[in-house]
Amino acid sequence: MPHSLHLAPLTADGIERLLAIAVVEATEENVMPPVDEPPGWSPARQQAFRQFYRLHHEAMYEIVVDDRTVGMIRLTPTVDEGVAETGMWLGTSTRGKGIGANALRAVLDHATERGWRTVVADTTPENTSAVRALVACGAVLSYVGDKVIATFSLREN
Ligand SMILES: CC(C)(COP(=O)(O)OP(=O)(O)OC[C@H]1O[C@@H](n2cnc3c(N)ncnc32)[C@H](O)[C@@H]1OP(=O)(O)O)[C@@H](O)C(=O)NCCC(=O)NCCS
Repeated sequence: MPHSLHLAPLTADGIERLLAIAVVEATEENVMPPVDEPPGWSPARQQAFRQFYRLHHEAMYEIVVDDRTVGMIRLTPTVDEGVAETGMWLGTSTRGKGIGANALRAVLDHATERGWRTVVADTTPENTSAVRALVACGAVLSYVGDKVIATFSLREN
């Protein structure tokens, strides 16, 4: 279904919008690093989510579709010059509708405009929708251990 999609730099209000989606429509391992808490969206885990996103907000964007936040995509500098890393998640109700691939295209456009030469991402071979979205957007895949590494070579500006 056609939709208008844009990426919005992540703000404090945006972190709350993302948390509201995550609590209802995502599992913690899809949206934040592990914390030493029982499974589920306990108040402590929600607070850890806020802290993690506050710390990393500069590299993160809300994915906004038809004026509604549906997930997050990031473009994080790496230690390798000219190389940024991406990763993303959507709430379950908005997966499988082409939004992930379109958000990836948008972040690759951002990366090109900002002069990054290469964008990388990693996932697992079992994550079919992630692997297919990465390939659909032009990634070259390599398999390292139990991971799939996706590499996008961006055009020179
Ligand atoms: C991974 C994710 C971002 C993909 O976004 P999405 O909007 O669901 O994916 P799209 O609808 O754009 O589909 C991308 C491709 O996957 C395919 N796909 C989508 N859902 C699928 C499913 N459940 N099973 C198999 N293939 C699927 C689509 O057909 C499309 O492939 P194609 O271009 O070859 O036709 C989303 O599913 C998600 O948030 N998953 C949980 C978090 C996660 O795994 N993040 C990725 C870490 S790298």
